[in-house]
Formats: sequence, C-alpha cells, structure tokens
Amino acid sequence: MAVSSLTIPKPDDWHLHLRDGSLLKAVIPFTARHFARAIIMPNLTPPIVTSDQAKAYRERIRQALPEGMTFTPLMTAYLTDTTQPDDLKRGFEEGIFVAAKLYPAGSTTNAENGVTDVQAIAPLLETLQRIGMPLLIHGEIATPDVDFFDRETVFIDRVLIPLRRGFPELKIVLEHITTRHAVQYVASESQNSELAATITPHHLLLNRNALFKGGIRPHHFCLPVLKRETDRLSLIEAATSGAPMFFVGTDSAPHLRTTKESAQGAGGIFSAPTALSIYAEIFEKAGALEKLEAFLCLNGPLFYGLPLNAGSLTFEKEEPEALKPILTEENVEIIPFLPFMSESNSGLSWRVKEKEPL
Ligand code: DOR
Ligand code: ZN
Repeated sequence: MAVSSLTIPKPDDWHLHLRDGSLLKAVIPFTARHFARAIIMPNLTPPIVTSDQAKAYRERIRQALPEGMTFTPLMTAYLTDTTQPDDLKRGFEEGIFVAAKLYPAGSTTNAENGVTDVQAIAPLLETLQRIGMPLLIHGEIATPDVDFFDRETVFIDRVLIPLRRGFPELKIVLEHITTRHAVQYVASESQNSELAATITPHHLLLNRNALFKGGIRPHHFCLPVLKRETDRLSLIEAATSGAPMFFVGTDSAPHLRTTKESAQGAGGIFSAPTALSIYAEIFEKAGALEKLEAFLCLNGPLFYGLPLNAGSLTFEKEEPEALKPILTEENVEIIPFLPFMSESNSGLSWRVKEKEPL
C-alpha cells in the first residue's frame, strides 16, 4: 500500500538566504516552521564579513521570528581578499560563526566583494583547517573565458582539486551542486569525511529546459544555473542514496517579483514554502522515501558535528494546492517556487502538516 503519512525528526537547512529588513520578516516564518536550524548566507549588501556584523545580523534574525517560533540561525562569514584570520577564529570560538563562505568574486548575487584569487587567501584557509571551521564554497568560475554552463565543472578542476591538495584536512561543503561531474567528484573523494555537498530542491526537480519552456522563465533562474537531464538524474541518485556526504541545502533565495521579472532578472529561487514537499516528492518517485530522513535530518548534523534535533515533523499526502505570492510589509510580491506550475495546482502532493496557516 502506498504510504500516505511520514514522520521524521525536524530537519535543518544547510544553505539559506534570509536577507534583511522587511524581506527577512516576510520570509523567515516559512523556514522556521519547517526547519530547526539553518546555515545563513552572508551575501547581504554590504556583506557580513566580521564577527561583529554576524552577531548583529543574528540578533535581527531572532527579532524577526514570529512569537512562539523557535529557530536557530547558524551564521557564516563572507570571505574577502582582506578578511582577518584572527576575527574568523574569534568568531568561531565565540560561537558566532559556524562556517566561512567562499564566493569567487562575481560568481553570483552580491559576490562582487568575494575572493579574487583563492591562492592568495592561503593564510585564511590554513586557519580554517587548523581550527576545524568548515569552508562552504560557491563552486563556480565566473571568468569570461568559461562557458556559463561549465562554470561548476571548471571550478572543480581548476580550483577545488588543487585547493584540497593544499589543505587535505579542511572541511569543505561544495554547495548546491548541479552536475554529474560534481556528484562523481564528491562521491569519489569522500572516503574521509572532510568533503560534502548540498543539493537543492530545484536542481532535483528541473533541468535547463525549464528555463525556456513556452518563453523565458525568470523564476527558474538560479546560480549555478540548471543543467542537463543527465546531471539532474545524477543528483537524484546522489541525494536518494543515503550516502552521508550528500545533504539538504535549499538555497532558498527570495527576490522581489520585480527584480526577477526584469530585463536583467536576478538569480535565486524562493523555495522555503515548498522545499520539503519537493524533496519528499522526488524521494518517493525514486522509490527511496526511507532515505529521506538521512538526507534531511542526519547527514548534515553528522558533517557539522552538531546534535540531532529533538522535535519531529510529519508529511501527509494531500490534494495539491495553488501557491500564492507572499507579500512584504510594503505589499510587494515574492513568488514562491514552483511558480505558475498551473493555475490551480502546485503539483505537489506531499505536504508538511501545519499547526496553523501562516
Ligand atoms: O540562485 C542563487 N541566488 N544563487 C546564489 O548563489 C545566490 C542566491 C541569491 O543570493 O540570490
Ligand atoms: Zn545560495
């Protein structure tokens, strides 16, 4: 008989954009109701570079939480060419920073202040390795000589492989992987537990055809960009394998509707409301629902050396519903993923049992 209800420990989101101000306020309930903790991306404008900035941002996140919701933000440091190793160390030891984030300069939204030359930050990497602080990597090369769709593959070959040779004990998460090449590299390197990868719901669900179906689809544009069907199938195989080096990271990245639906639409998919339903749908279709708990709840804490969450979360099978835009205080729309799947139907039948509607 088909399963119609599923209870797992409360999951974590190991890659999340919460933004700031009224956008933060509008989106945080959607993550906090489904996830116990999340790794918070530091690519604000200006970015979260120092431990003092991270501490203040963490406080703003706590203040934005609706009454009665519990949620733990795990803060990250945005690495620049001039980040001070001592501040990273202090932030980590004081429990402000959980990890450091490497954006190659220009690789994605608000990555202008990112690292221009990975070799030049060797002292930072040496510090991270020594103190056991994980390095989270946006794995793309953003130079004009590299084809947009090859950015991840070229990054792995030109930057990541040499970096890991230089710092073999550095804990690394290759974030939001999108290619078969990345899956194979991470799987082949993970005899030791230093290298892991996160996988988003959108890269499991869509291939690059979805960018152009019936016309250009700005709400399907994210970075790294969607890839081929063969890549998507590799990602599904990795996520549903239960292997400890692959775990959830939604990369939920809200932008205002007007910023997405533009001649130069921003990269980023706001998946917080539907991410868990999508993962459940994918795992069920792959015949691997029994591996969902490892991917959503167990593998991440194991990598980060954090305790498992105490609470639980239940999925139930229900009739798919239409998704509505979310509104900020100023009544500006944010469109949740999957937008416009059909007029009345998100296509998602696994739903998190909610205590009360938002
Ligand atoms: O799609 C993305 N959006 N990828 C990123 O790396 C950044 C993010 C954002 O901040 O919007
Ligand atoms: Zn991201």
